[in-house]
Amino acid sequence: MSEISIKTPSFNHLSAADLDLIYAPSEDTFLLIDALEKDLKEIFKLEPCICLEIGVGSGVVITALGSALGPSSLYFGTDVNEFACKKAEETAHLNGVTLKTFCCNFVDSVPDSVKGSIDVLIFNPPYVVTESDEILSSPLASAWAGGEKGREVIDKLFPSLSSILSPRGVFYLLLEKNNKPKEVSSILEQFGIFKSQAVIDNGHGKKNCRV
Ligand SMILES: C[S@@+](CC[C@H](N)C(=O)[O-])C[C@H]1O[C@@H](n2cnc3c(N)ncnc32)[C@H](O)[C@@H]1O
Repeated sequence: MSEISIKTPSFNHLSAADLDLIYAPSEDTFLLIDALEKDLKEIFKLEPCICLEIGVGSGVVITALGSALGPSSLYFGTDVNEFACKKAEETAHLNGVTLKTFCCNFVDSVPDSVKGSIDVLIFNPPYVVTESDEILSSPLASAWAGGEKGREVIDKLFPSLSSILSPRGVFYLLLEKNNKPKEVSSILEQFGIFKSQAVIDNGHGKKNCRV
């Protein structure tokens, strides 16, 4: 157990109408914050300059990390949902964290000066097993619908991971058992440079892996 704790950011500003349009902070959101808290000493040791959350949603996760680490790092978020990007910046601002977001697929619109220099990368992806065509059926569906094995979105990120992370970068990815975490580990190892381990397993099939 880490001796340093992470405060859950306040997100009272998100109205019911907002939460009809973006992914509401949920059990998996808080599990990811718990995983970051568990690893916080290691993250501090890394002295990260750039932290980025893909699929930033409400902004609660990157804001929690930003509150714990402070302004020595820069914080970025991306989301395919433009409204989520706006709300995430608000969440960060209201909790004293400066966050710059980009509305894009993964990190496609993030400046090259940031890509390749990300020390802490976070993703709570759309991981639920669904029909493939559900993935893009609505902005909210694209928050959770993951297609076959719940991996259709996640798998598309893996080939570019090595060019997104800095040489010392770590990647926190939330998975559940239907996503076949062991298979994900071996796919990542095939890309050559990754070693992965589970940080938290909540016993109900959801895991956070650090890569
Ligand atoms: C499960 S939600 C997580 C939201 C928030 N990070 C949290 O933990 O509460 C997944 C988020 O990823 C976004 N998303 C889905 N596919 C994406 C992609 N290809 N690139 C960027 N964001 C994506 C969704 O819009 C959604 O906000």
